[in-house]
Amino acid sequence: MPAIREGARGAVISGWGTSLPEKVLTNDELAATMDTSDEWIRSRTGIAERRVGGTTIGLSIESGRQALEMAGLDPSRIDALVLATTTPDKQWGSAAVVQHELGMRCGAVDVNAACTGFMYGLVTAHGLIAMGADRVLVIGTDSLSRITDYTDRATAPLFGDGSGAVVLESVDGDGELLGWDLDADGSALGILQAEVGGYIEMEGKEVFRRAVRLMVDSAEKSMAHAGVTIDDIKLIIPHQANIRIIQAACDRLGIPIERASVVIEHTGNTSSATIPLALADALDRGRVEYGDLLLLVGFGGGMTAASCVLRWGGDAQ
Ligand code: UT7
Repeated sequence: MPAIREGARGAVISGWGTSLPEKVLTNDELAATMDTSDEWIRSRTGIAERRVGGTTIGLSIESGRQALEMAGLDPSRIDALVLATTTPDKQWGSAAVVQHELGMRCGAVDVNAACTGFMYGLVTAHGLIAMGADRVLVIGTDSLSRITDYTDRATAPLFGDGSGAVVLESVDGDGELLGWDLDADGSALGILQAEVGGYIEMEGKEVFRRAVRLMVDSAEKSMAHAGVTIDDIKLIIPHQANIRIIQAACDRLGIPIERASVVIEHTGNTSSATIPLALADALDRGRVEYGDLLLLVGFGGGMTAASCVLRWGGDAQ
């Protein structure tokens, strides 16, 4: 993937929001219905509980509403809505319904790149702004509980529902995006897939093995395009699939896990929502300051990989 073209119109994130369904599903509750245990799930994945029972449209409306409110924008001022989801409520139209319900009057599209969907959406939104849009709402939402087989202990503990959103606004100057990478390898679809109308099927060990390599490769490409090294990165915002994958990726990249934003313990893997949820958590906890460099990186079914380096607030030095 190319580095950012000289003179491209820049953008910054000006608001964010999150949404999780109310119902909490704990490891102990899962262990009451299948042959597993809280100890096994925590030690192998880092997950203690997940939220279930949301709809993609409902969760998206809530996170999107919060992001617009924080940005102080009337919905009518948004030029485009990109909704990343691999679990649309219907075959099409989720983004359009969210657009309508939030009172926006703009184009609206569903983007499906499994767990890298938010990253694909965020890079696409920066591209729309480079081409003249002024404000884009990017939402990452999944309701994976609807495609999870709760009789399969190999997958049931991993997944949950959730949503995160950001408002991206054009700025004079370079904006926040310093480097990005989008990648895909369709030859590996079979190790992590879901037939239309079916459940998530996965070769866990093989996904784990590839995930670490994909994240590291993609992160290194984004950092090379940005002209930075891992030592310049204040915080890594990784896809939250398994704490051991996050740990292994951090080890290989040479960044301590203390510099990662981790929310998996209470959310599980929410696919398109993990990165915006982890980003919002870091921002809400005051872990990010103006001018800090953030590395967002994920992998997903397809298989896909994606990453970007952001300078928070744009060209502050
Ligand atoms: O967004 C991407 C989505 N997917 C992923 O990221 C998945 C990536 N993979 C993983 O996270 C891990 O491979 C898993 C968490 C899925 C599995 O962890 P693992 O350390 O690779 O375990 P394993 O598959 O090698 O299984 C070890 C043992 C097996 O028993 P035996 O053969 O050693 O007797 C499994 O049958 O653990 C057993 N096992 C379980 N035991 C209790 C598998 N699932 C469970 C379970 N509870 N839920």
